[in-house]
Amino acid sequence: MVHIRFTSIAFGVAALSSALAFPAYESLSGLSERQLVEAASESNRGGGGGGPGAKVPPPPPGPPSFTGAKLVDDARHPWMPTRPGDIRGPCPGLNTLASHGYLPRDGVASPEQIIKAVQDGFNMDNELARFTTYMAHLLDGNPVTDLISIGGKTPKTGPDPPRPAIVGGISNHGTFEGDGSMTRADAFFGDNHSFNPALFEQFKDFSNRLGGGFYNLTVAAELRFHRIQQSIGNNPQFSIVGFRHLTLYAEAAFPVTLFVDGRRTGAQAGHLDMRSAESFFKDMRFPRGFFRAAQPSGAGPAPEIFAAHPTVPGRNVAGVNTFTPDTSLGSITDFCTFYTQFVSKTLKGLYPNPTGVLRRNLNINLNFLYQSLGAGAQGCPQVFPYGQN
Ligand code: HEM
Repeated sequence: MVHIRFTSIAFGVAALSSALAFPAYESLSGLSERQLVEAASESNRGGGGGGPGAKVPPPPPGPPSFTGAKLVDDARHPWMPTRPGDIRGPCPGLNTLASHGYLPRDGVASPEQIIKAVQDGFNMDNELARFTTYMAHLLDGNPVTDLISIGGKTPKTGPDPPRPAIVGGISNHGTFEGDGSMTRADAFFGDNHSFNPALFEQFKDFSNRLGGGFYNLTVAAELRFHRIQQSIGNNPQFSIVGFRHLTLYAEAAFPVTLFVDGRRTGAQAGHLDMRSAESFFKDMRFPRGFFRAAQPSGAGPAPEIFAAHPTVPGRNVAGVNTFTPDTSLGSITDFCTFYTQFVSKTLKGLYPNPTGVLRRNLNINLNFLYQSLGAGAQGCPQVFPYGQN
């Protein structure tokens, strides 16, 4: 039985295992320990826990007042090509929002901005938006400056205004980003974030053969399973442990729930045409005149995609075709273990001994994460790795 409410939570990404395997000094949410300590001490300067770059994370935005379909490719949000220094990454949804100005066009945003943007631009469900964003921020963001990059790590100085400190990003492999993506290659092959034309050809081939030219739930289930098998067979470091087991299935659902024009109803609903798919995945652009989903949506069909070919979490342990189950960090069917292990092992592994502003902001973000679970927590108690204040 699938224990999570996928309409509200449970999207994510990340082979957490590899993050755990790193020695602490090599990987702290994509930043080195020195960079974090520097960020924390910079922010402590000036007293009261607030230096030039430090922020108290504001509470997450709630659901918008209007939650129906609307034109989102509008005059206030024109698509623009990236400028030198603008950051894009492995998520076609966030890339599109940045290229239309729903997110800062440079690709560096606060969790608050991301939650607003995914709701406004795509009608992503509020609880899912909060869960996904705080997972990403805790794994890959800079908790001191309250900023995260939608791609790689930023340099210390940015375009305008200069960034106060280095910001981590969601391209960081083994945290949120993981293996088996539909249109991005596994990190083992060198580039885990750019649009991969050969994989997109495969996406189209599955859609043509199994969906009559459309990506739909049948295609999602078969392609999801195929990409897992493909990577088991060619990526010696393939891993879908913990968070990645959730996000694999949620991300396969998003093109059905969020990339299909909200005016498509009845038999046309849930069918994504290939021109629109290319527009999102490759061009980071809404199809011309695109309307967002007709109601708050997200990972609802993920359990169905999983159920078509249930694959347990695990990894290749000794080269290709050595996939071995590993459920120690939870799974799509064991959300409480996932949450508990994420907080007490993965995050604690990334931030073993936070102090000052860093600790305070981690705790604030951990509360926001737990609150986002809503009824999805289903009696799973909150974990406090750094105390309760
Ligand atoms: C709420 C904040 C979001 C965050 C933090 C986020 C983050 C990510 C990350 C890190 C990945 C890479 C995972 C991988 O390795 O494949 C990803 C993939 C993906 N995201 Fe997002 N995302 C968000 C919202 C959205 C939205 C609103 C959409 C759709 C409108 C979306 C659609 C997708 C899809 C379809 C993929 C899979 C790409 C592929 O497999 O090729 N995401 N996202």
